[in-house]
This record gives sequence, structure tokens and C-alpha cells, in this order.
Amino acid sequence: MATATTDLAAFIRGLPKAELHLHLEGTLEPALKFALASRNGIELAESTVAEVEATYQFHDLTSFLQVYYPAMRVLQQAQDFHDLAFAYLTRAHADGVRHVEMFFDPQAHTSRGVRFDTVISGYRSAIVQARREFGMSAELIMCFLRDQSAEYAMATLMEALPYKEWIIGVGLDSDERGNPPSKFAEVFARARREGFLLTMHCDIDQDNSIEHIRQALEDIGVDRIDHGTNIIENDALVELARSRGIAFTCCPVSNSFVTQSGKSEEILTLLNRGILVTVNSDDPSYFGAYAADNYVALTNSAEVTIDQVVALAKNSFQASWISTARRDAFLLEVDRYVGDNT
Ligand code: HPA
Ligand code: ZN
Repeated sequence: MATATTDLAAFIRGLPKAELHLHLEGTLEPALKFALASRNGIELAESTVAEVEATYQFHDLTSFLQVYYPAMRVLQQAQDFHDLAFAYLTRAHADGVRHVEMFFDPQAHTSRGVRFDTVISGYRSAIVQARREFGMSAELIMCFLRDQSAEYAMATLMEALPYKEWIIGVGLDSDERGNPPSKFAEVFARARREGFLLTMHCDIDQDNSIEHIRQALEDIGVDRIDHGTNIIENDALVELARSRGIAFTCCPVSNSFVTQSGKSEEILTLLNRGILVTVNSDDPSYFGAYAADNYVALTNSAEVTIDQVVALAKNSFQASWISTARRDAFLLEVDRYVGDNT
């Protein structure tokens, strides 16, 4: 049994896991931001990593997004998107991540004149390289910006259709305030008909959190929910999510930035109630925590047993959009790792 804190952190880092809530644009580390700005002849207001980090003053989702979106202007060419994704995949590999399903926000790029195919071809080549070099698997989930119109989301879905083979599902992110799931019902219905899997953010402690979670589950019929721990306030919805095997991709460190609480107790209570909760990093370069760091943060902020840590890692594969055969192989890998390391 791993006991000391350092042993536990090492155990967590080596534990095979999947990451299911990761925004590629949220992996932009300040050093890469400078390199890309220089490559593309872009002047930045900050000139040191410390100056960039000093702008990371987040107290809620909106204040985070106000820093997050403007930083993306350094991403211009396919090579930039490749470098961003490959840097993340390399870092995740070191954290025991065997499989990842990564969000990207095409509208954050097409809206400033970068072509859709530039974005996706850069991301795709990084995925192919990670598979070749690390044996790691990765998928893309295309998110619509919920503070933009449903028409723009639909147009983006149409633009993505030629790249269907490279996109496993669609999601919904950005500012939830006043932008309920129902606004995108038609877009998600069309995405479903086109064969995409469905997920969407139900961010933490939003106005109408419960109604948004209800819409996602009952009206849209999502396969997963990103964040969504407010479901704990409604027993009937918890039971619905449990009976349907709906997974919740939780992000403890991100939660602590945007709501001042990691929501660890909520995550563990949902785990104990049989909900498929998983632990993820969301926007690791902004929140200073990659996949394993989020498991460690959870164990630091609540009483968590090794068995629960292992259950969370297993949940990450159970909730992944992979074949049954690969899921079984990953679960066996977890069991072997636990057998060898406890
Ligand atoms: N919520 C909404 N939008 C986002 C997030 C998030 O957690 N991360 C990056 N964009
Ligand atoms: Zn997110």
C-alpha cells in the first residue's frame, strides 16, 4: 500500500489513466506562447513568463475566459497547432495518460481568420506523431462556443463534416451564463445524426445549473457531461445519470480557480453513489496542474483511499469513447499496475 505522500504522488503518476476533459487551447504554456509569437511576428504585451502568469487572475469562469481567448492569437499556422498539441501529448504521456479525448474550439480561430483545415490538420498530425512515438491514442472533440449564435455553431458543424473521421464527438464550452444547452438543441440533434458522440459543459455553480444539467440529460441526450457536479443537488437527476451510465469529467484544480473550491467532496460523494466520475485537467497551463496533479490535488483536499484513486482511473477508461476490447485491455493494465505497486 502506498503510504507516504511522495509515494502516493508517484503511484498516481504511473497509474494508467485516460484524460477526457482537456482543452488543447488551455495547454498553451507561456514559453510556447513566446516561441509562437516570435515565429509569427506577433508582439505581446508581456515579455517574461512571470509577466504572463501575473495576468492569470481568475475568480470565476468569465474572468478566466477573458484571459484565455485573447492568448490564442499566437496560433496561426498548422505547425503552431501541431506544436501545441504535441507538447501537451508529450507532457500527458509522462503522467501515465494512455488515451486522451481533447477539446478544441475551432470558432476561436476561424473567427479571427484562421482556416478550419489549418487548425485540424495541425492537431491531427500531432495525434499521429504521438501514436507513433508513444503508442498513445488521442481523439478530438469539437466544441461550439455557447456565447456565439446557434447559427454559427451549425455552420461550424457543416464545415467539420469533411473531417468526420478525425472528430469523435462534439461539445459545448465558453461562457454558460445565459447560454443554456437548449440554445443548441438543433445543432446537437444534427451532430447526433451525423454520427458524433455528444458531451457538453455544465460548469460549476452556474445560474440555473440544475436546469442546464436536466436539459443536457433529458432534452439533448448527451453521452457525457463536462464538470456537472451540481447534479448532486438533485437526487432524481443523479439516479437518471447513474442508470444511464453518464460520465462526469471533473477537474478539481480548475474548480478551485473558478469557484474557490475543488469540489472534492462532491466528486467523492458522486463516486460513492455509483456515478462514473473522472478526474481531468481542463486547462493545465492556466491552472498549473496536469492530469496526475489533479488526482494529487483531490487526495490532498479530502480523505481519499487508494481504492478510490484506482476507481477514478478505471472510470476514465469506462467513460472513454473507445472499443470494448481496448477498454478491457486498459483495465487489465490498471489491475497489473496496482498489483505490482501496492
Ligand atoms: N468551461 C467553459 N469553457 C472553457 C472551459 C471550461 O471549463 N475551459 C476552457 N474553456
Ligand atoms: Zn472545460
